[in-house]
Amino acid sequence: MASGRSRSAAPVVWVLSGPNLNLLGKREPKIYGKHSLQDIHKMLEKAAKTHGLVVDCRQTNHEGELITWLQQSDGIASAIILNAGALTHSSIALRDAISAIKPPTIEVHLSHIFAREKFRHTSLLAPVCKGMISGFGAQSYLLALTAIAESKINR
Ligand code: DQA
Repeated sequence: MASGRSRSAAPVVWVLSGPNLNLLGKREPKIYGKHSLQDIHKMLEKAAKTHGLVVDCRQTNHEGELITWLQQSDGIASAIILNAGALTHSSIALRDAISAIKPPTIEVHLSHIFAREKFRHTSLLAPVCKGMISGFGAQSYLLALTAIAESKINR
């Protein structure tokens, strides 16, 4: 569908999660919380309806697949919520993909990356993203959706 609209004409927000985020709920719950990624996707679907948006939620453990999705989002997604996991700190290729596409991308993290190990303090993606939300658990994704809806960056 062209220009980020679904059949119902609601703007579509792509929610992309990278490596190891399929393990949410079981993975280090003290850091990442008890919600599974499926739980988060359900919460986003519900919240999207209240904002008049539609979400398309995906997860992959593969850097190349994330890059392909970002490229494919151009002209389809009106905005992107991206949790690239550890690729945040290492992937120039992912940064270049975000730079190359039109949909504004919001970087999200469940944990507060700046309050953790030093190697997590650098995001290669943040400078090419519209903004970053970090440290609010599952709420980070929902806050990104609210930011997209309220700032109308999807229109
Ligand atoms: C994360 C933070 C990253 O440093 C880490 O590698 C992850 C998850 C977060 O959501 O807090 O996999 O992106």
